[in-house]
Amino acid sequence: MSVLPRFLVPLAIFLSLLPSVMAQGSNCQSHEFWYDKTACCVPKHVPQSPSRPPPGKSCPTSDTETWYWSDNKSCCLPNAPPPPSKPTPTCQNGHSWNVNEGCCSAPPPSGPQSCSNDQFWYQPKNTCLPKGGPPNRPQPPVGRQCPQVGWYWDVGSKCCLPYHRNQPPPQCPSGWEWNSSSHHNHCQLIPTPPSPQPLKPSYYRHMQRRQKLRVDTLCPNEMTACPIYGIHGPSDYECIDPMHELQSCGGCSSTGTGQDCTAIRGAWNVGCEAGHCAVYNCMRGYKLARNGSACIPL
Ligand SMILES: *[C@@H]1O[C@H](CO)[C@@H](O)[C@H](O)[C@H]1NC(C)=O
Ligand SMILES: *[C@@H]1O[C@H](CO)[C@@H](O)[C@H](O)[C@H]1NC(C)=O
Ligand SMILES: *[C@@H]1O[C@H](CO)[C@@H](O)[C@H](O)[C@H]1NC(C)=O
Repeated sequence: MSVLPRFLVPLAIFLSLLPSVMAQGSNCQSHEFWYDKTACCVPKHVPQSPSRPPPGKSCPTSDTETWYWSDNKSCCLPNAPPPPSKPTPTCQNGHSWNVNEGCCSAPPPSGPQSCSNDQFWYQPKNTCLPKGGPPNRPQPPVGRQCPQVGWYWDVGSKCCLPYHRNQPPPQCPSGWEWNSSSHHNHCQLIPTPPSPQPLKPSYYRHMQRRQKLRVDTLCPNEMTACPIYGIHGPSDYECIDPMHELQSCGGCSSTGTGQDCTAIRGAWNVGCEAGHCAVYNCMRGYKLARNGSACIPL
């Protein structure tokens, strides 16, 4: 495109801007509408048997639209776009509309006596929590984790919560540290130190002569030496952190003790979390497996 007739220029500019203008709403299909609160397309029909909201939460009542609880989004969804004036949804049973959580919720509990039998009082957050945790366990977002023993990710409060009243102290996976500042309890990545020096060839020859030397003493703490195979067998080693190495997650992918998360069929965004591949989302034509570690062709 070298010369564009003058009168076509404004049109070309207009067309180039169009996709960004239309991105939000027009990506929705005809049976869906764009819902600002969840920033996604929401179906216009109410599912046949929507789940009950968790204890202490309920969905608004309205003459103009029907609200239902969505497990997927952990909030209430309407079956039609709320009116442009966006009045505060009406709640019942003494509940009030909770903007942050996108649902109606009971007034904040004031102490242990506000918890029901299947709940316990969690002082750090001044709230009642379900004993044993909630039925569904959403994955924390990228960059967050919960200690693998005793804690789960809570979408509503965006932090890790304990299953029981007397929880052992939180233990984050290696490479992660506990952050409890302003009660935003979660594990976060420890800023990475400079990456280890690649092994020098002389070191490698030395190792070959002393075959007894254990391969895993070649690398600094927490790192594993993975053989890199050439035509004549192992020709070099690399140090990897099997807890977080995307292409050798859980161990060396070259020896089959670990997995190459980038090789998961249909996966789009993947991570290696505590030595297990975590698929965050799948390519078009696939859906995320329930266990979060595979993509299933649709
Ligand atoms: C929840 O999300 C999955 C995948 O995005 C979808 O297939 C499923 O229909 C959704 N469930 C409900 C009840 O909306
Ligand atoms: C802890 O997490 C909070 C919330 O994400 C963040 O603002 C804060 O900087 C973190 N604290 C540390 C010490 O990294
Ligand atoms: C996860 O689910 C997929 C499909 O259901 C299955 O093939 C795979 O073995 C599962 N992985 C784990 C670690 O459970």
